[in-house]
Amino acid sequence: MNNAHLAEPFKIKMVEPIRMISRERREQALIEAGYNPFSLRSRDVYIDLLTDSGTGAMSHNQWAGLMLGDESYAGSDNFYHLAESVADIFGYRYMIPTHQGRGAEQVLFPQLIKPGQYVLGNMHFDTTKAHIEMPGGRARNFVIDAAYDTTTYHPFKGNFDVEKMERFIDDVGAEAVAFILITVTCNSSGGQPVSIENIKAVHACAKKHGIRLFFDSARYAENAYFIQQREEGYSDKSVREIVREMYSYGDGSTVSAKKDPLVNIGGLLIFKDDEELFRACQAMVVPLEGFPTYGGLAGRDMECLARGLQESVDEDYLAYRISQVGYLGNRLRDAGVPIQYPTGGHAVFVDAGKMLPHIPKGQFPAHALANELYIESGVRGVEIGSLLLGRDPETGEQQDSPMELLRLTIPRRVYTMNHMDVVVAALVAIQDRAKEIRGLEFTYEPKILRHFTARLRPIETESAAVAGMM
Ligand code: F0G
Repeated sequence: MNNAHLAEPFKIKMVEPIRMISRERREQALIEAGYNPFSLRSRDVYIDLLTDSGTGAMSHNQWAGLMLGDESYAGSDNFYHLAESVADIFGYRYMIPTHQGRGAEQVLFPQLIKPGQYVLGNMHFDTTKAHIEMPGGRARNFVIDAAYDTTTYHPFKGNFDVEKMERFIDDVGAEAVAFILITVTCNSSGGQPVSIENIKAVHACAKKHGIRLFFDSARYAENAYFIQQREEGYSDKSVREIVREMYSYGDGSTVSAKKDPLVNIGGLLIFKDDEELFRACQAMVVPLEGFPTYGGLAGRDMECLARGLQESVDEDYLAYRISQVGYLGNRLRDAGVPIQYPTGGHAVFVDAGKMLPHIPKGQFPAHALANELYIESGVRGVEIGSLLLGRDPETGEQQDSPMELLRLTIPRRVYTMNHMDVVVAALVAIQDRAKEIRGLEFTYEPKILRHFTARLRPIETESAAVAGMM
């Protein structure tokens, strides 16, 4: 039963060949990449599970929309179509297109954050945290403790610990909080959903203290689907209705359109009804992204996005999508590979800390597992752990990562169940020789966002023993 999965609710009109290079060439490619899969060329990757961002397959309806691009500098038809689609899906009145999610963050956050203020979230994504810190803000996470326990089932591991957040607000004072940000789904805890009950509680807390409430929306439709499947009182509601309800509690949202809205590039900054804030952001979008009716996008991109937003809430598609990710997770779990459980919406997170307990955190067990997976099968995953977290900017010390995870991120409508089987077989083979896998040390460590361009090498056995003692 665990291995049940739904067939794809689409047929395939165009194919893009992928190929597996030999093991020797994979080993060579990884050495050249400084043992960092980010530096691999995509042509050397067989199944690319680095991210679900911008990697989805557009539908024939979206490709058809591409031909209807109105590339006028001002007042493009596609802008108005996009605004209609946004109002329809989110129920929000004001919309600014941006080149991607972080484009919306760079426009909005400096409007709201005074130096030293806090931004409270369930778990901030890394670029989001960077954009909070750039205008002098401080990012704080309040996800429930259950999120850090990969083995125990909880239906909403993206939820806020609202009491803990309340205590924090009481301590620092509401005026020290710039805004509250709900990330749906919560990417960093494993693509885990936030319940409506929890969104309501966060809303009540924000209202009580007079604090603005925003969403960080990349995977809102997946979040709504989980609510429909798991939350009492929502099984009869459509995903569309649930998305509307979720957003009714917020003042606005930054949106990465590269995930659920099924486009390869794009973002949005949207507001429910705050005209003043909208106008202030509109003025800033001109120097930062582009004229307000195109933001960072071509007319044709806006058309694909207007259509993708509608497809994102299609329930046949969502049922298949979540079932594919669940299938990969369940098969791994059945084979004894430790994963964040239950699986999230966009990815399976393998608990490398548990799978490779002999590798200390400082030697990046999840990154070592990513490298091994590439060597074994040409599959590219990504580390979400100590390497990503990096050093404390003030002390220079490695920050203590609560988890060491390997994210296997599933692009939308791109790979089949057979590809998932390849990933399972590879991880099962690795599990059998897990003890032989060695940790890594830097040969080059960049100062900021080091995980993207770092170069590393496997640690020789003796130095591994020494570093392990630290
Ligand atoms: N917020 C969340 C929760 C995200 O997952 C991302 C991107 C962003 C904001 C930024 O959006 O990429 O359009 O600028 N996540 C990608 C990932 C990169 O791989 O998880 P963007």
